[in-house]
Amino acid sequence: MVLPGLVDVHTHLRVPGGEHEEDFATGTAAALAGGFTQILAMPNTSPPLSAPAAMATAVAHAQRDIRCDVGLFAGASPGLTRHLPALAQTAVALKIYLNDTYGPLRVEDLPTLHACFRHWPRHKPIAMHAEKQSVAVGIGLAAAHDRPVHFCHISRREEIELIAQAKGRGLPITCEVTPHHLFLTRADAKRLGPLADMRPLLGTADDAAALWAHIEDTIDCIATDHAPHMLAEKRSPTPPPGVAGLETALPLLLTAVAQQRLTLERLIQLMSTNPRRIFNLPQQPNTQVEVEMTPAIIQNEQMHSKCGWTPFAGMTVAGRVSRVILRGQVVFENGRLLAPSGSGKTINN
Ligand code: NCD
Ligand code: ZN
Ligand code: ZN
Ligand code: ZN
Repeated sequence: MVLPGLVDVHTHLRVPGGEHEEDFATGTAAALAGGFTQILAMPNTSPPLSAPAAMATAVAHAQRDIRCDVGLFAGASPGLTRHLPALAQTAVALKIYLNDTYGPLRVEDLPTLHACFRHWPRHKPIAMHAEKQSVAVGIGLAAAHDRPVHFCHISRREEIELIAQAKGRGLPITCEVTPHHLFLTRADAKRLGPLADMRPLLGTADDAAALWAHIEDTIDCIATDHAPHMLAEKRSPTPPPGVAGLETALPLLLTAVAQQRLTLERLIQLMSTNPRRIFNLPQQPNTQVEVEMTPAIIQNEQMHSKCGWTPFAGMTVAGRVSRVILRGQVVFENGRLLAPSGSGKTINN
């Protein structure tokens, strides 16, 4: 089977400051192994991508190291909103964290939120980490400022139902869900302990069922929230939240196709067409992902991500990526990575 190049709008590549967990070379290797040819990197780095100096460092390292195409998010931070117009020169979108999660970025006051909407250019997207009632805050801002808002990793029944209702009223909002919130629940969290700790937390079986029920009409994208942390960190007394996702997303979704929970056509919309449209990302000519529908077991040892583990280890999936072609070049074939670092392009929109 041949698919278009996949697009992941939610990846943590950890540069600068978290290179022991992932860097542009390893993160984009994981992306290609997972069938992603275009990804957007999150700004909750150390320092975060909220000021021009950190952004310049990230861009320079990206240009040197990436193996697929990468766009960068700028991060909203109270007291630093004056930098937003300068950051928008290189960043493809703005990320606002309304709730507690890994990293230093948080915006909890309304004046900063309004400043973000005023200073960030209208033609560039705004994405939010919003949970529970914060989803209503994001919907309110989209309505008041009459501009699109994209919700990251929606995970609860009450959230997806509120988004469905707001979309029904014609509000300009979109959302993504992660494979882990579709395929894992609190029962798995019990089994996996800190290895299944992430933000948002895994939901109940009822939350997962609500996400599946909205996969055709409300969910716009599948995004990985690839958030690598080392096993030693996850097993420490203060485990950081987050799990890797780039290399398991497509095999899991292909399994759903094999089980007829989803059509292949819908998978392509959720993992390629819609994310590219919502984030206004360029087309990639002569680019495709070839997939083999043979059962396989997910194994930690196969991972190209620096973290080297996945919460899905041991699961049987229905398909795997056999070959990836980017701009006419074979960049991944039968488990072997062929794209040199520096061969990817940084994205501007
Ligand atoms: C993410 C990380 O580790 O950067 N962790 C997570 O649990 N999802 C942060 C985030 O996406 O909220
Ligand atoms: Zn988040
Ligand atoms: Zn994230
Ligand atoms: Zn870590």
